[in-house]
Amino acid sequence: MTIQTPINNTANNPAGFPDVGELSRLASQFFATLPNGKTAGGFEPSEKTANSGFNTVESSGSPQNLILAGGSLPSLIPNAVAPNGVPDTVLQSATGFEPKFSNVLLGVPEAQGLEVSSLTETSGAPSTPYYFLGEASGAPVNTQAAPVQDEFNAQSFGLPSDDDLRSLLAQPSRNPSDGVSAQSAKKDNVAVPSAGYYFLESANLGNGIDGDVHAQSAQKEKYQNRGIPFDINAIRRDFPILQERVNGKQLVWFDNAATTHKPQSVIDRIAYFYAHENSNIHRAAHELAARATDAYESARNKVAKFIGASSPDEVIFVRGATEAINLVAKTWGVQNVGKDDEIIVSNLEHHANIVPWQQLAQQVGAKIRVIPVDDTGQVILSEYAKLLNPRTKIVAVTQVSNALGTVTPIQEIVALAHAAGAKALVDGAQSVSHMRVNVQAIDADFFVFSGHKVFAPTGIGVVYGKRTILENMNPWQGGGNMIADVTFEKTIFQPPPNRFEAGTGNIADAVGLGAAIDYVEHVGIENIAQYEHDLLEYATYYLKPIKGVRLIGTAAHKASVLSFVLAGYSTEEVGKALNEEGIAVRSGHHCAQPILRRFGVEATVRPSLAFYNTCEEVDRFIAVIHRLSAQRS
Ligand code: ALA
Repeated sequence: MTIQTPINNTANNPAGFPDVGELSRLASQFFATLPNGKTAGGFEPSEKTANSGFNTVESSGSPQNLILAGGSLPSLIPNAVAPNGVPDTVLQSATGFEPKFSNVLLGVPEAQGLEVSSLTETSGAPSTPYYFLGEASGAPVNTQAAPVQDEFNAQSFGLPSDDDLRSLLAQPSRNPSDGVSAQSAKKDNVAVPSAGYYFLESANLGNGIDGDVHAQSAQKEKYQNRGIPFDINAIRRDFPILQERVNGKQLVWFDNAATTHKPQSVIDRIAYFYAHENSNIHRAAHELAARATDAYESARNKVAKFIGASSPDEVIFVRGATEAINLVAKTWGVQNVGKDDEIIVSNLEHHANIVPWQQLAQQVGAKIRVIPVDDTGQVILSEYAKLLNPRTKIVAVTQVSNALGTVTPIQEIVALAHAAGAKALVDGAQSVSHMRVNVQAIDADFFVFSGHKVFAPTGIGVVYGKRTILENMNPWQGGGNMIADVTFEKTIFQPPPNRFEAGTGNIADAVGLGAAIDYVEHVGIENIAQYEHDLLEYATYYLKPIKGVRLIGTAAHKASVLSFVLAGYSTEEVGKALNEEGIAVRSGHHCAQPILRRFGVEATVRPSLAFYNTCEEVDRFIAVIHRLSAQRS
């Protein structure tokens, strides 16, 4: 079997995007299977070698090609007709908005992207002919740049040329509600630095910034001097759902704190699992069981490496962060917290890091103590220190607040807990997708997170626990998979992590989590952190001065989240107005009522950013808030 190795020349193709030759061959095979046997006009298979970061290898003629082609096809199809008269196919082909296929078919060039150094050649025969980032494969990596494939262009398919598209897109928006749309902003009042960022001339926006020209130009310069650490257009192409249209507008996904979208590599990986590896994970039984076990345990290894655990045995798969905290409270908690003992949480916590501890406290007669926050939404360490005492058994604190975006001083919080003889659980649900996490550097006893907030599927999450602690913990649930021996008199349990994984787990989605981690590492979590930091600053700079806006959560160190209320509007009204423009935010209490009440509100509007968001999307969001503000504030 010949194994092709399309993962090469990653500098030109950083984020897993297939080259034209590869695409043409896959697409031709797909179309050739249509019932009428027709192929797309003029679309002939190419013999040229691949030139992409496409993260799969297939063997010629293998049915899995169809999965790949099929997986990408929806982005060819407009989902709704835009009311502004511009055909969806045109808008979808605008830079930054390209669907995976039409971008290439239209001949839109890829921007130079990041160098990817994480792909290493591995030895030994691959267990399957498929190649996924970060999984063992015998496929040698071709580092030679393949010839540029240019034999397909827009005209081949009866579509507009690059020049036609550029002139269409240069026209000002016909939708009055667009305000400072990316196009009009580009034309009228935006400097476009070489890095591709857009910078609004705030003086032209009427955004309430009242004439501090020096501050404005300093802000602008700050952004202009920064580069984007990756090819944002390539990144966006990797997430097919970003091509969706909502109310006729290109979707803007600013609800990343609730859940993140999935790159095509994750979608493909799960499809591949079900097509080629699906089995329960009882390795010795048969070939597919061995494949499924390998895939599942490989995902565990990836998680361990991603969070800096000392061993994969410290990684337990669960449904999500909520189940993770429940597991700790109902096992370690019941064993170690007793009457009159104390449990410390912070005022910032998500309900998932409050309710299980309350339940435990009620069950054993313990007390909950709460670390207060200051007016910016940061925990007050000096007050925390006063709460600690010999009765404190565990401190459970978030690393990033889901409601405010505050990044807490987690290392200090853990160190103080340890100094008082307590254990520390860190809720990483909102941190792992935004910053490098190292559980050993933090010295967390437990660290939990949900896969779906880090570009993986829902229904999979992680409890990290220090090995010595896990070894002394009782199982939570009992059943298959977690036992060494069962008689009617007695059961001997497996060591961790299996002891905590009773029953058949979410195998495929654990594998999907592994693929998501590969994707994040491929882009570089440090690059993600830098990009998101700049984007959050940019958004805050333009949101804060809008008349009637009150930001909730203004800590010096924040990640991803902008929580606010707008005078004269309920949060639902703001959310609805944004949705009408295709912009998704969460409005409500964000499952964190205590912290919102600390700021005297019951609900906020909460845009939350990820690394596939852009300044242009922020501009669209800001334009809506300006319009609302002008109407009532
Ligand atoms: N925890 C999720 C949020 O913050 C659901 O929206």
